[in-house]
Amino acid sequence: MVALDVLRSLCKRRGFVFQASEIYGGFESTWDFGPLGVELKRRIADAWWRDMVVSREDIVGIDSAILQSPKVWDTSGHVSGFNDPLVDCKTCQGRFRADQLQESACPRKPSKHPGEHGDCDLTEPRQFNMMFKTRVGPVEDSAAIAYLRPETAQGIFTNFLNVQQSMRLKLPFGIAQIGKSFRNEIVTGNFFFRTREFEQMEMEYFCRPEQAADLYGYWIKERLNWYHSIGISPDNLRAEEHAEKDLAHYAAACTDIEYRYPWGWGELEGIANRTDFDLNAHAQATGKKLQWMDPQTNEWITPHVVEPAAGLTRTVLVALMDAYDDETLEDGSERNVLRFHPRIAPVTLAVFPLVKKEGMPEKAREILKRYLDRFPCLYDAGGAIGRRYRRQDEIGTPFCATVDGQTLEDGTVTLRDRDTMKQDRVKIEALGDHIDEASRR
Ligand code: GLY
Repeated sequence: MVALDVLRSLCKRRGFVFQASEIYGGFESTWDFGPLGVELKRRIADAWWRDMVVSREDIVGIDSAILQSPKVWDTSGHVSGFNDPLVDCKTCQGRFRADQLQESACPRKPSKHPGEHGDCDLTEPRQFNMMFKTRVGPVEDSAAIAYLRPETAQGIFTNFLNVQQSMRLKLPFGIAQIGKSFRNEIVTGNFFFRTREFEQMEMEYFCRPEQAADLYGYWIKERLNWYHSIGISPDNLRAEEHAEKDLAHYAAACTDIEYRYPWGWGELEGIANRTDFDLNAHAQATGKKLQWMDPQTNEWITPHVVEPAAGLTRTVLVALMDAYDDETLEDGSERNVLRFHPRIAPVTLAVFPLVKKEGMPEKAREILKRYLDRFPCLYDAGGAIGRRYRRQDEIGTPFCATVDGQTLEDGTVTLRDRDTMKQDRVKIEALGDHIDEASRR
């Protein structure tokens, strides 16, 4: 498995991920996505949206505001219950999660955990709310306090009636959303595994109470299969049910889809049975009837909710880790490859003219233009052809097409496969289907 510093340096060198505010020395736990990183993230989000929303008749999407009425977070339980236990060290001023001391290092003696040597002077644990507070408008008083959302889910619950009525939806149905969320995590790190600003891909699936248990199982399987469909190795994924003591305040049950990170198994997505906790709480707080009437029986039902909540930014990290390969070839040379699935690779097809003459660059640009609408393409005419292949291997481009003398005679190109490194001659007009076919495998 790739070491984090190796991945981090590749991400910087090839334009995937940069340290935020780098020219100012950085800013703790913040990262910027570069040209290839943003493309990878968009393609993962697009694959999720296509499979969760576009291709399903029972799920629709929304995009709600990051700033909501602070009453939303009172009602959802986040103001009182979205806490981590925190301890401070009076000696070194370090701040740690009380429940993760064994995973933290003492800043003064990194070989020890906080509290493990004589100089440490830890306070009693206290509850630390993880929501970021801000003020809305020009007035600096406490009545103007608002929160950056800690989950996208609440924007879905508050719009339950708007969406159900405007789209005339019948149970069971889902509402999906992709967007940024913010949590003032005490412990961050492992590159961009845990950051304070991150993107989520969440879906709330509303159903009859008696359907919730089956749907909880269904969504665990569906979501595991989805990670396989974007190329994440099944050997590096597992589903782990939470112990009751570890459940979030709104959940009756939760299973994490975990990934085998270089530091061990950790969360990638949580699938929770949120019961009717949120709709009930908002109905009580607002006096609105957040229910659905069964047209057969005229009975009013408060739906229960199964929620697959995935980290988009975390899936980007997992896609990079899982794709990384450092391969020794038969001739003893080494190549770095990102074996992205063609569905999510930031570039699907690179097109090269063999030489910069005899009309080859023009022909290569024609091919680029022809396929740009179908998948992300890139043109590269710089340096020896072998070097160009290596550059594409390193950013995970699954296919490279080279225009040579024969292209001008018979309209074929050599199509080189990133993983097998084999080359086939393919007609220019057949390239798209050939690539689509290979992408379905
Ligand atoms: N909505 C669940 C989560 O943010 O983890």
